[in-house]
Amino acid sequence: MRRILIKKGTLVFPDRGTLADQDILIEEGIIAKIGKGLQDPQAYSINASSLLVGPGFINLHVHFREPGEEKKEDLLSGSRAAVKGGFTSVVCMPNTNPPIDHPVIAQFIAYRSNEIGLSRVFPCGAITLGCAGKTMSDFGLLKQAGVVALSDDGRAVQSPRTMYLAMQYAQYFHLPFLLHEEEEGIAAQGHMHAGETAFLLGYKGIPEAAEDVMIARDMVLALYTGAQVHFTHLSTALSVELLRLFRGRASVSADVTPHHLLLSDEDVPQLGSLAKVKPPLRGKRDREALKEGIKEGIITILASDHAPHAEEDKGENFAEAAFGISNLEITVPLYVKALIEEGVLGWVELWRCLSTNPARLLGFSEQGVLEEGKIADITIVDPDTEWEVNVGRFVSKGKNCPFEGWSLKGWPVYTIVGGKIVMREGSLVDGELC
Ligand code: DOR
Repeated sequence: MRRILIKKGTLVFPDRGTLADQDILIEEGIIAKIGKGLQDPQAYSINASSLLVGPGFINLHVHFREPGEEKKEDLLSGSRAAVKGGFTSVVCMPNTNPPIDHPVIAQFIAYRSNEIGLSRVFPCGAITLGCAGKTMSDFGLLKQAGVVALSDDGRAVQSPRTMYLAMQYAQYFHLPFLLHEEEEGIAAQGHMHAGETAFLLGYKGIPEAAEDVMIARDMVLALYTGAQVHFTHLSTALSVELLRLFRGRASVSADVTPHHLLLSDEDVPQLGSLAKVKPPLRGKRDREALKEGIKEGIITILASDHAPHAEEDKGENFAEAAFGISNLEITVPLYVKALIEEGVLGWVELWRCLSTNPARLLGFSEQGVLEEGKIADITIVDPDTEWEVNVGRFVSKGKNCPFEGWSLKGWPVYTIVGGKIVMREGSLVDGELC
């Protein structure tokens, strides 16, 4: 493996909260040296002047659909989309077919992604068999097989007793929960946010209470059991308030998606089923509360909920269309638009929410920091050049994206995983580059 020298970049140290103009030398997949004026004529050199260089981005929430729904996405297309989007690691949700409720499925995902050799793909195990909310999976065997967290994503465990027992059981294996929260009786098979737009369009609404009730329940359970509970794709103003209330008392945290920060239910009439997602795009007041939560440091992680679907699953009929948005390749520039351009976060804070904080939640000590001796998982971002989103050029199979034609800044231009360049200037690198 040839050495790589990243020259003249602005390094981002999200854990320390600093930026510095320095170089990085990578050797044998490890960050060998960080400093000013490094020289190595034999190394493959990257000129990073006017670029930001930091620890690789870690995405806590993607759907790669393999096994079972490979026409929507598979581990190869998903991994390609991940590194194109600047992600060196992703956590893939268990609602595959069969779900990740058995160690064999988790092992298959780990083995196949390793074989692909692009982004690191970590399976998230199902809390219950079949994600059906009834019988708990064997958390110990799942952990042994490589799962890094537990979720029934796409659904929430409806029974408080099952969730209570699962939180107690998970303690033995130090596995965090990544919870999709939705009380199904209140959600009542709705299609979009229960607000004025749903009323005018005549669509069945999903009230905020469907999320808030479950978040409140699971915060209480986290408090009593000591479980580590992370709420994914937060969408309501009250969920932020609940997090504010329980933070520091229970081990609770949360992430958001870019679409919940940039769109609202008012966009549904124009975007149609491309804007159909779970939890639904909420009202503008909720959107502002999420941003406030991020600014205050209550919401600490930025994820994607990359949910690719085939064209036929997202047809004209809104009520019948699948829930989900494909966004993995544009997640970072979308966050730059929603948070940096809006003055909510600076680059260091944004980077922390995309690398250090998810690494800490998952207990990854090698990732999320830029430090000599650590694994060389690095993302390089061009903060200034503006490009238009062209969904036709996505490498993901999922073209179900409502951001077509948006002009965005802050695109990842290099992704380095374990000292190997896997994406260069927006293009995937096939085979050894150096
Ligand atoms: O919109 C969504 N799509 N939300 C989820 O929670 C699941 C996901 C999917 O699997 O398509």
